[in-house]
Amino acid sequence: MTATEQRYAVASAEELKQSGRVITTIKGMEIGVFQVGDAYYAWRNVCPHGGAPVCEGVVCGTKMPSLVYEYKYGRDREIVRCPWHGWEFDLLTGQHLVDEKVKLRGYKVEVEDGQIYVVL
Ligand code: FES
Repeated sequence: MTATEQRYAVASAEELKQSGRVITTIKGMEIGVFQVGDAYYAWRNVCPHGGAPVCEGVVCGTKMPSLVYEYKYGRDREIVRCPWHGWEFDLLTGQHLVDEKVKLRGYKVEVEDGQIYVVL
């Protein structure tokens, strides 16, 4: 954390473990905090396509590259799908799954003594 950054408590690790996601408001911004495996990620709750609350979308996997007539599902619980038009974002990187120019705005997450913090 730098001298200009400040951290904000958003949830306990136990709470996030049970819910998988918490959406909170910090400095007037909605931010979604997700647990994926043993790691935590924070993304601004604004879809870069049309401004939807993307962090409220379904957390799921996605279709993996496969041959014609094959359907391979993978990356379960690592993807959030925007509730308005279905754009899919990687919860680990914020990256849109198809368009590399499109990404969610992310924030640093810290964990200390069982408490999850977002750093702004
Ligand atoms: S607003 Fe998110 S996909 Fe359109």
